[in-house]
Amino acid sequence: MPIAELKREKMLDYCKDQSSADSELLTELEKYTWDNEDVPQMISGQLVGNFLQSAIKMIHAQYIVEVGTFTGYSALKMAEALPVNGEVHTCELMDKHARTAQSFFDRSKHGSKITIHRGPALESLEQMKSGSFDLAFIDADKSNYLEYYSRCITLIRCGGVIVLDNMLWGGDVLDPQDEDAKALRKTGEFIQNDARVFNTLLPIRDGLMLCIKN
Ligand SMILES: C[S@@+](CC[C@H](N)C(=O)[O-])C[C@H]1O[C@@H](n2cnc3c(N)ncnc32)[C@H](O)[C@@H]1O
Repeated sequence: MPIAELKREKMLDYCKDQSSADSELLTELEKYTWDNEDVPQMISGQLVGNFLQSAIKMIHAQYIVEVGTFTGYSALKMAEALPVNGEVHTCELMDKHARTAQSFFDRSKHGSKITIHRGPALESLEQMKSGSFDLAFIDADKSNYLEYYSRCITLIRCGGVIVLDNMLWGGDVLDPQDEDAKALRKTGEFIQNDARVFNTLLPIRDGLMLCIKN
């Protein structure tokens, strides 16, 4: 591994060591994902998760919508930071992932706060009521990111927050060549020109775009 990359890995490990730790169940879920899934790196992990929990605490969020459940790490992480009457509505296309996530939710005292909406996320989002969420986390297929953002901006209240993961796409957004990189670049440019939000692209992990709705 090149020295600069090794140093970055070590700095990331240091950041994790200096951040509040995951619950035992989340640690087990992450290990399960790395041991059993074909593309385990889709999991967001502790730093992104802690950032989401921080946003929840800062805006006193109660209702959350998530696009992209995977094995359930971010949904459970967010549920752990919510009050007892809080709700996470998470959208997942693949039954296999929904089943894995539900099996972990069933083992948590926070699991009853989470509802998985199975099927294409755009269809699930269409059924949800405008202005009824405090926070949206977008973390699914990149080709639909702009559509997810456009729907989520109407789903969240004023003062609510949207967080989009992977907005740096390993640096490929700088000179986008493939369709995913192009879609992410287009989404970033759209948000940057969207007067409805105050936005900041943070270099946390693979890039988190934080949008606060005016
Ligand atoms: C990057 S993973 C989500 C990771 C998760 N948020 C976490 O932190 O562990 C993306 C997920 O989106 C799902 N997905 C992809 N396309 C989708 C779609 N059109 N509708 C709903 N889910 C979709 C994938 O099956 C995958 O589980």
